[in-house]
Amino acid sequence: LREHEEVTKVKNVGSVELGRFVIETWYFSPFPKEVYPEGFAECLYVCEHTFSFFRHKSELVRWSKRVKCRHPPGNEIYRSEGLAMFEVDGAQHTVFCQNLCYFAKLFLDHKTLYFDVDPFLFYVLTEYDEFGYHPVGYFSKEKRSEVGYNLACILTFPPYQRKGYGRFLIAFSYALSRKEGKVGAPEKPLSDLGHVSYRSYWAATLVDHFCNHRHHHHPKALSIMELSKATSIMADDVIATLQYLGLIRCVNGISVLWADDSILAKLRVRYPIKLPAVDPSQLHWTPYV
Ligand code: ACO
Repeated sequence: LREHEEVTKVKNVGSVELGRFVIETWYFSPFPKEVYPEGFAECLYVCEHTFSFFRHKSELVRWSKRVKCRHPPGNEIYRSEGLAMFEVDGAQHTVFCQNLCYFAKLFLDHKTLYFDVDPFLFYVLTEYDEFGYHPVGYFSKEKRSEVGYNLACILTFPPYQRKGYGRFLIAFSYALSRKEGKVGAPEKPLSDLGHVSYRSYWAATLVDHFCNHRHHHHPKALSIMELSKATSIMADDVIATLQYLGLIRCVNGISVLWADDSILAKLRVRYPIKLPAVDPSQLHWTPYV
């Protein structure tokens, strides 16, 4: 453990330039040694469209002139309100996905990032304008997860954090699960920031479902399984969230879901549905087989 801490603590790259941003890094990333021959690289220059990284700006400029493509590889599977999502297969676009992992590790501490990218799909979220597509974050997903994970790793690039993109990426991962007709969950452990973001998404989604249920049907009991099926959130996460919200009570030794209108109204204010939201009608995707 000690050794692991040492390795992850020592940063080998000071900052990265991505598009119009220079971003200070957070953690070590196992870039190939050529990239930081003196044990440390002050700044790496990263191509927004291929995630190739260079030690000198001039190399990036030359590279960018050669690369005509102004968007990530793979299939565009979603486009709405200035946002486009690309699905990139790790087995088809291996170098792109490995580069993305090297880049992502600069901001992910606790996770073992897998550089064997073949078994994964990468969902890269971009903002688009007249100059092209600018990646703002991504999540990865195992093509086949035996335990029902619908997300392996999630990252919003630091200049784009706290604008709701993390929430959007999480919502997107559940939208894919819904299309698959499955429930899903993020791979554990979650980082602190991952935990805050998930809890906020889960709470907002479950509270919203409660409120709609109350409006459309008459007060009828809701079960954990129904909630899980309706939201694609795995039952364990539904239970943990309801406990956190104080909506599970013990009555005569039996756990019951309990939410009256005044409690729900308060929770609705505390955990609103936020923008940008995923518009399922703009998702053009069939499950990986
Ligand atoms: N401090 C406190 N709260 C924060 C912070 C922060 N620095 N950043 C985000 N939040 C809260 C927001 O207030 C928001 O809560 P709310 O909806 O109740 O207001 C919630 O987290 C989500 O905010 P978003 O803007 O939607 O999320 P963001 O785009 O910032 O992305 C993410 C969240 C992906 C976790 C980002 O912080 C990140 O990339 N962190 C580094 C990588 C990481 O830790 N990833 C998760 C690892 S676990 C896994 O991969 C399975």
